[in-house]
Amino acid sequence: MNYILGIESSCDDTSAAVLRETVICSNVIANQAVHTSFGGVVPELASRAHQQNIIPVVETALMKAGITKEQLSAVAFTRGPGLLGSLLVGTSFAKSFAYALNIPLIEVNHMEAHVLAHFIVNDQQPKDVPGFPFLCLTVSGGHTQIVKLDDHFSMQIIGRTIDDAAGEAFDKAAKILGLPYPGGPLIDKYGKEGNPKAFKFSKPNIQALDYSFSGLKTSFLYLVRDQLKIDPNFIQNNLNDLCASIQQAIIETLMKKLIMAVNQTGIKDVAIAGGVSANSGLRKAILEQQNNGWRVFIPEFQFTTDNAAMIAVAGYFKYLKKDFADLTAAPYSRQG
Ligand code: KG4
Ligand code: ZN
Repeated sequence: MNYILGIESSCDDTSAAVLRETVICSNVIANQAVHTSFGGVVPELASRAHQQNIIPVVETALMKAGITKEQLSAVAFTRGPGLLGSLLVGTSFAKSFAYALNIPLIEVNHMEAHVLAHFIVNDQQPKDVPGFPFLCLTVSGGHTQIVKLDDHFSMQIIGRTIDDAAGEAFDKAAKILGLPYPGGPLIDKYGKEGNPKAFKFSKPNIQALDYSFSGLKTSFLYLVRDQLKIDPNFIQNNLNDLCASIQQAIIETLMKKLIMAVNQTGIKDVAIAGGVSANSGLRKAILEQQNNGWRVFIPEFQFTTDNAAMIAVAGYFKYLKKDFADLTAAPYSRQG
């Protein structure tokens, strides 16, 4: 039995997980509350918090998995993309740990890992995993892309955002409403009580399978700014409707291109991944496509936002191929 330790530290969550092959044994995530009052992630504070969290988080992950560090077969870590200072903490830890244990070190691309999270299985609840080829809409705070997978590591980006990511659109809209960071989950929560048709926004008209969210954000900003001049309590009086409407606009934009991608490729195994795949409206919208013959794959909530289990599963597939990193591997901040 091979146990893989995954380490994730690309943004503001410090996470460690243990997988037995693709079976989840533990997935520990330390969120960093320090950013809430700043309205976004402060890179310098994130690195510092990772440094404080990393060892306790790894110890807890091993303890919860019920194994000792000597039982590990390999250490997988996020090499990028992400915040450089944050990545340096996980990278340095993973290197030292693998070196000390004399086991292979495996580098993982964070965006690939979000997609491969669909292959994590649970001893208690058997589930279907996507078959190749499949499409995945990866929507997070930093990325929005449609990828086509022919194999675990053969991923072609067939559509991407040309400006803001979908998660950023959620977070910026939330900030306009005075909600704390990250605002996506709060928009989801308040939107459940609101009318998604209450407010209309200009929809982007972008070529091919690409996305744009900056116009939507501006349209939202102008609406709120203009209405506040008329009614200073406009936000409080309309919070649920505003959240439901902006969420609906983001989901319609995401789904339009995803449907186009399915029609163009003829691929009907479709997955969603990344932090925004936790959104209840997006989950509902994609599930509705089952009526059109899609086989839909939605990740468990714990594997939507940043987590180390996805790094460990990606690491396991690389372990099988003996695709190991050497100790000179340095993090990268942007996707190649
Ligand atoms: O994948 P992730 O944890 O980090 C990145 O790699 O960026 O995604 C975080 C993003 C944030 O923008 C957050 O607001 C958004 O995912 N998010 C949501 C929900 N849960 C998290 N957005 C909308 N609805 C949610 N329920
Ligand atoms: Zn992510």
